[in-house]
This record gives sequence, C-alpha cells and structure tokens, in this order.
Amino acid sequence: MKYESVRGMRDILPGEIGYWKQVEEKVREVATCFHYGEIRLPLMEHTEIFSRGIGEETDVVNKEMYTFLDKKNRSLTLRPEATASVVRAYLEHGLHIREPFQKLFYIGPMFRYEKPQKGRSRQFHQYGVEAIGSLDPTLDVDVISFAWTLMDMLGLSDLSLRLNTIGCAEDRQRYKKALSGYFAIHIDEMCTDCQRRYDSNPLRILDCKKSQCQPYIQQAPASIDYLCADCARHFAEVKGYLDELGLNYGIDARLIRGLDYYTRTVFELISKDLGAQDALLGGGRYDGLVELLGGPATPAVGFAGGMERLILVLQEKNRSFGQEKRLDLFLATLGEEGRLLALTLAQGLRSQGISVDLDYRGRSLRKQLGYADQIGVRYLIILGENEVSSRKGRIKNMGRGQEYEIALTADAIARIVHGSKHGD
Ligand code: HAM
Repeated sequence: MKYESVRGMRDILPGEIGYWKQVEEKVREVATCFHYGEIRLPLMEHTEIFSRGIGEETDVVNKEMYTFLDKKNRSLTLRPEATASVVRAYLEHGLHIREPFQKLFYIGPMFRYEKPQKGRSRQFHQYGVEAIGSLDPTLDVDVISFAWTLMDMLGLSDLSLRLNTIGCAEDRQRYKKALSGYFAIHIDEMCTDCQRRYDSNPLRILDCKKSQCQPYIQQAPASIDYLCADCARHFAEVKGYLDELGLNYGIDARLIRGLDYYTRTVFELISKDLGAQDALLGGGRYDGLVELLGGPATPAVGFAGGMERLILVLQEKNRSFGQEKRLDLFLATLGEEGRLLALTLAQGLRSQGISVDLDYRGRSLRKQLGYADQIGVRYLIILGENEVSSRKGRIKNMGRGQEYEIALTADAIARIVHGSKHGD
C-alpha cells in the first residue's frame, strides 16, 4: 500500500520553507508596526460558530466544511476561516468587557472542501487581521493599509485593490429585494444552485462562477445604489482617506464577497499572476457578527490572505527570495576520535547560536567535502588524527577560500564565525 497525503492537503518541505518563514516574519513585522496582537485559535470549533457566523447559504458552509461528529455526538468543524473564531474568543474571554477595542492577527491552516487547483487547496494557510470595536472609517483604512504595507515589504507592486460597499443590514434588505425583482425574470435560465439561492438568499447568486449565469449577474443591480445616508457617508470617507494616503483602489460594483457577515466596506487585493483564483486577500466590515454570536453590538473590520497564493506570486516574481540561511560550519571527520571531537565542538557551538553539521553516516572524507560544497557551507574544519591530538586545526572560509590556524575550542571557532557573520 502506497500512502499519500489527503487530496488537496500537501506537505511543505524544507526546500520551500524559506518562503513561508519570510512571509510569516513580514506579517509579524507589519503587525507590530500597526500594533496588532497575535491570537492563536484552535483548529476546530463547534459547527454552529461557522454555520451561524458565516451563513448557512454560503458555499463555505453549504458545501465546503469538514464537519464530523465527535465521540459524544457533538458536531465539530475544522475551521474554514478564522473571523468567526476570533469573535468567539473575543466574547468567551471577556475581551469585550476589559477593552472592547482589539486589534488582533493570526496565521494558520484553514480547511475547505473545494476542488483543488492552482491557488486553491483543501488545507491552506491564512494570515489575517481583525480590528474589533470601532465603526470609524479610519479603521477600515488601517486594515487596508496593513495589506498594502505587507505587499510593499514583500516587494509586490503590480496588484490592484477592488473596493465596494454593501451597506448595513437594512440596506442589504433593500438590495436583496431589488435583486429578487431583477432575477425573477432570469432565474429559469440560470443554474440549479442559483435557483436555490434565489429562494434562500438572492445575494449569494452573485457568487456564482458558472458561465451560463454570468450575463445575468453582470447586469444585476449594484449594492452601492441602495445605501442609506450613513453608509454612503462612511464609504465616501473610506475613499477619501485612501486617496489621502495614496492607496490605490478601483470600485467593483459586483464585489459582495462570499460570506454572509459582511456589512459596508468590502475589498479584495488581486494579482494577475494567480489566474482564475486571483484574490491574494479579501476582507471587509462585519458590524453584526459580534452580536450574532451572542455579544453586544460591536462593529469590526478585517481581512485574510492565502499564504499559498502569496508565495505563488512571490515565486513567480523573484526566484531568489526565500533562500534558507546557509549552514555556518561543517565539521568533516576522519575516524572515531575525530567524530567524538566534532560532536563536542558542535554542542558548544550550537549553544552559541552557530549552525553546525557533521557526518553521521561514516562517509569518506571525499564525500563529506563534496557534501559541504554542495550545501554551500560558510566554514569548514577537518578533524583527523593530528587535530585530535594537538587540538589545533585549520578553519576554511569557503567563500573567500582563505584558511586560518585555530585552537579547536568552541570559543575560538565561535569568535571567527561570529566575527564574520555579517561579512559574507
Ligand atoms: P475569504 O475570501 O474566504 O475570506 O478568504 C481569504 C483569502 O484566503 C482568499 O483571498 C484567498 O487568498 C485565501 N483562500 C481562501 N480559500 C482558499 C483555498 N481553498 N485555497 C487557498 N487559498 C484560499 C475569509 O476567509 C475572511 N475570514 C476574511 C476576513 C477577515 N474578513 C474579515 N476579516
């Protein structure tokens, strides 16, 4: 029997981990600059958190959740996203009582039973931010600015931000009515999913990707035409601040996002390099979610981006990005005593923060040297009989090709390696 990972869930091997570490590091760096605190959430929640929070009629809840019963017949779900979980944690730990205004970020795996393809998998990873506790349009802009700053720091510029507003709950009722009226005359020509959505939530018809439905969706009424005065002002202010900060955006009147909790501002950051799955990240306001999950009425805004998609774009743009750090030192050994000395030195050096490796397979000196060359090690020391008895040896700077006489103690070696850590 040949075992394979579950379809749509893949291993990330050491060869590509450099990209992941870089992206995670940058997310943390930007989060620090924007003063967002990290939150780590369980991978599983009670199903209701998502079915209520995201909405029964969304594709995510309706088709894509990994839901199962545990041994006590409770329905649990592997999280398909983290916004609902963040709100659950915000309420569960009384953050809303201690300090209702919270700026939080997270990084971690999410699970959706979707058809795997480029930029879409069943286990994928998101980085995301949630700013809870203010309706001020500057907070929408803070979150969007976070996204742009991250892209800037990663050297990505060729991106576009799609922006729209879907108004408050009352606006959406009016908008849904308009959609119902409009789709009533076309729905018989549309797919069976849309026909079902027409009865349950006509807004979700706009999520449909089927080509037979596109002509009708393109002509559908736009949410922006159904805004109340407050929501219209909010949107105008968001755009005004974005202009002020020089953050580019384009209005996309059909953007409503695929999750039910959104209100007012919605946005997506798009990359041409991604093909059909072009959203690098997406988000918006969700002013009703805290209340929906049992808390006091509390506005909020956030976004999440797919790590795999971001890394795909980075790989496409800049192949040298994401190199793992080179090994500082390889200790090539001859004989049992050489190996023992190497083990002792490695222990002393590693505890001083120097990366060291040696041969664990009894390979010939020639093979060890070939390996050291192949991995591009910075320094090399050969430990043979003479070195063991004299406790003196030669350290070779592989980049420059120079060799130095050295006492074989961890401190003496560390001085040389540390001394040039930034030099080559
Ligand atoms: P979402 O649009 O469902 O929003 O997902 C956000 C991002 O996650 C997408 O733009 C995409 O980059 C990535 N993504 C989603 N599904 C997949 C998949 N199957 N494979 C690979 N990448 C994927 C949310 O999840 C909201 N919670 C965002 C949010 C936070 N809104 C407010 N706060």
